[in-house]
Amino acid sequence: MGRREDVIGKWSEEKLGLLEKYLKAYARIMNSQKRKWLKAFHYIDAFAGSGQARAKDEERYIEGSPLRALQCDPPFDCYWFIELSPWRVEKLKSLQSQFPNRKVIIRRGDCNKILREEVIPQITWESKQRALVFLDPYGLQVEWTTVVALAKEKTFDVFVNFPLMAVTRILKRGQSPEPWVEDLLNKVVGNTDWLQQIYRPSEQLRLFGKPPITRPALKAKQLVQIYAEQIFSLFGFVSNPVIMTNSKNAPLYTLFLASHNQTAVKVVNDIFSRYKRLREVGG
Ligand SMILES: C[S@@+](CC[C@H](N)C(=O)[O-])C[C@H]1O[C@@H](n2cnc3c(N)ncnc32)[C@H](O)[C@@H]1O
Repeated sequence: MGRREDVIGKWSEEKLGLLEKYLKAYARIMNSQKRKWLKAFHYIDAFAGSGQARAKDEERYIEGSPLRALQCDPPFDCYWFIELSPWRVEKLKSLQSQFPNRKVIIRRGDCNKILREEVIPQITWESKQRALVFLDPYGLQVEWTTVVALAKEKTFDVFVNFPLMAVTRILKRGQSPEPWVEDLLNKVVGNTDWLQQIYRPSEQLRLFGKPPITRPALKAKQLVQIYAEQIFSLFGFVSNPVIMTNSKNAPLYTLFLASHNQTAVKVVNDIFSRYKRLREVGG
């Protein structure tokens, strides 16, 4: 049990680097507001993981999102780490013991329930608190109703890692989605009207009296736009996305920030633009 560990690849490390840059900028901005009106600012890691992971192809460890947040200077007033798996929760507890001066709340369970029932009701507009939420699932675990609840309060910035491949994988070419697929996408994206656009009956085959369903390959960029538009309908501002690909150049995830604050999105756009420039030159 104690020997279990997570192993991550290059793109995950890059994702963490981008998150860390925004964590620092967010903490600096929020800290300056504490002298004015702000009572407290929180970091909420809804898919916290185990705190650190081993690099896939090298003998070294990579600091996970909870550890990067705990090391942030200035510190957050409160850290929430939510994680489903028991062994990772144990690792998070030992990480917590290394930071006795930080206020850390660890919860084991499904983050949708914990966010909606415990966290969001505490960080209200009236309480003059703000929070940065990191949504970093492996698959399609973030429920749309959770995103709606976060947006409604207007106190949360949400740094989203949306799993593109988890969606493209279940949308089969040339065959309309099975009911469970449509239900799942509705639960996660909040709307599946866009499926009708993708699964148009082919005109040519319809002339022969057949109504087959066609689907050109769903482009990752289309999907990013669909999800980003959904998010945009709830939050006033959404950053430009970064798309992370695997070694075969297949899109895996997209990262972006949803916020009610234009400056927050501008900060993330700057961080992402610098990263994209470096990536282009192979840095
Ligand atoms: C991509 S990993 C998180 C990595 C972490 N954010 C980091 O960068 O160090 C996703 C984590 O979410 C956990 N998980 C999966 N479903 C969950 C759920 N419904 N609620 C909370 N955690 C969940 C998994 O056990 C896994 O540790």
